[in-house]
Amino acid sequence: MSLLFERLLWLVLLIASIYFCIISCISSVQRFHTKSTHIGLERNSYYWNTSLPSITICPMQRLNDTLFDNYCRVNKLRGREKTEFWDFLENLANATYINFQNIPEYDSIDGTLDSLGIRPKHYMELIYNLTFDGTYEPIEKIRIRCLDGQAHVRVRQILTEFGLCYLCNSYLGEEYTSRFLIFGEFPEFNKYLNLQPYVDVKQASFFDDMGYTMFGFDFEALDSYIHSAFEVMKVDNNFGYTHYGAIYEPEVEEIVAESDFGTETSISQRKCRFYHESNLTHYPFYTKNICQQECRINLAYKICKCIPHFYPNRIANPKPVCTYKTLKTCFPRHADYFLKFYKKDDNLAEPAECYCEQNCIDAVLKMKRAFPMRGARQLLGSMGSSISMKIWPRIQFKRQVIFSFTDLLVSIGGTAGLYLGFSVLGLVEFVYFFTLRLLWHLFGYQI
Ligand SMILES: *[C@@H]1O[C@H](CO)[C@@H](O)[C@H](O)[C@H]1NC(C)=O
Ligand SMILES: *[C@@H]1O[C@H](CO)[C@@H](O)[C@H](O)[C@H]1NC(C)=O
Ligand SMILES: *[C@@H]1O[C@H](CO)[C@@H](O)[C@H](O)[C@H]1NC(C)=O
Ligand SMILES: *[C@@H]1O[C@H](CO)[C@@H](O)[C@H](O)[C@H]1NC(C)=O
Ligand SMILES: *[C@@H]1O[C@H](CO)[C@@H](O)[C@H](O)[C@H]1NC(C)=O
Repeated sequence: MSLLFERLLWLVLLIASIYFCIISCISSVQRFHTKSTHIGLERNSYYWNTSLPSITICPMQRLNDTLFDNYCRVNKLRGREKTEFWDFLENLANATYINFQNIPEYDSIDGTLDSLGIRPKHYMELIYNLTFDGTYEPIEKIRIRCLDGQAHVRVRQILTEFGLCYLCNSYLGEEYTSRFLIFGEFPEFNKYLNLQPYVDVKQASFFDDMGYTMFGFDFEALDSYIHSAFEVMKVDNNFGYTHYGAIYEPEVEEIVAESDFGTETSISQRKCRFYHESNLTHYPFYTKNICQQECRINLAYKICKCIPHFYPNRIANPKPVCTYKTLKTCFPRHADYFLKFYKKDDNLAEPAECYCEQNCIDAVLKMKRAFPMRGARQLLGSMGSSISMKIWPRIQFKRQVIFSFTDLLVSIGGTAGLYLGFSVLGLVEFVYFFTLRLLWHLFGYQI
């Protein structure tokens, strides 16, 4: 009786130990998969360099009249048809979610588009062909360029949700250029930019007073966007439509990552993506805002059954591009939903399905001050915008691994040791006992 009782007691103890061991191990594994990284705070601000924010500028006049005149001459377009076609194209090139309704509807447009053989999928190509890339302008005074005193910063033409714009001071690769996104080719060699040494991104340390100016815009008005150098602009977040250009004084806090952060962890563990870790369809690279643009593409496709012309569409199954009539009829009604991913009708708020991971490396901006640059046109000969960093960050965020694979092994081993007295040597002995030793025994050897 007492023997049975003792055996039962050991059995219960053994089962309880195994149970708790498994529970602890599962929680370790879960921790490894979901909470193995964290963001730490660094305060030794004297030791880092900070990257200045990017500027994206969209000129509010889009087409180049020389190129347009040539195009019309070749295609024998004149008179009223020509002026109406210009107005139509100029507004199409300037179209985005807030102003689709401004695309004019003339009687002659359909005929003109038909005779030129322009289908919706050619809209962006045509606009690109009739837009002059101001960074290739031979005359220096009106070339679109980016300067800090004598030091040059790279500037490029890009394709955004607000048509063709210019971007300066960015870490994003050559893929983020208008030519690559529309035609799949890298931009031509820019001999004017390469006349002198230049940097991609301006960095500065705590003791510098830093800034740069992007100018060379010879237009009536500009729309400027200030954003992190690791990101692209957000079309609903502009810093204003100005006739002068402006000087911006932002404050930046950077998010950096440990050197082997990317290789040691998976995307689901760290819940952030690096630039090269794209799982998007329309874009070959990843940033959070680009991911949201892709959400917008999918939403537009779902609701209006086609996508606007200003998205890259060089994919295996291209989505249909909207005709200008669909842009006018379907999009203005849902503009808020597309921009905010949030629909509100009759107290019923409905968020759209859109999940985008953070950028692993990024910067957080706060705009301290902005003032118009009056008289810049007289001074510089053209318009532009400036960044001026007066306030330096005192903190920086750093992504770190706090629970690595080695930690997981140690944790599981420790748990098993605690509850079951488990060790690797013990395991080897156990296996040995039931294989080799059993074999010897069966063959009648004495050990
Ligand atoms: C900061 O920038 C300076 C030159 O601009 C460079 O010499 C230095 O190595 C950089 N420091 C770090 C930590 O990147
Ligand atoms: C229009 O394009 C031509 C080159 O085709 C260029 O020389 C001219 O400066 C451009 N005009 C404007 C206003 O950018
Ligand atoms: C382009 O769109 C912006 C924003 O809607 C508007 O303010 C601007 O006047 C437009 N430009 C032209 C030339 O129509
Ligand atoms: C744009 O220009 C390219 C190269 O010059 C040409 O192949 C293409 O057909 C043009 N596209 C349109 C819509 O005119
Ligand atoms: C990309 O990955 C995220 C999760 O990491 C997922 O929610 C999203 O649907 C993926 N996007 C595509 C286009 O596969």
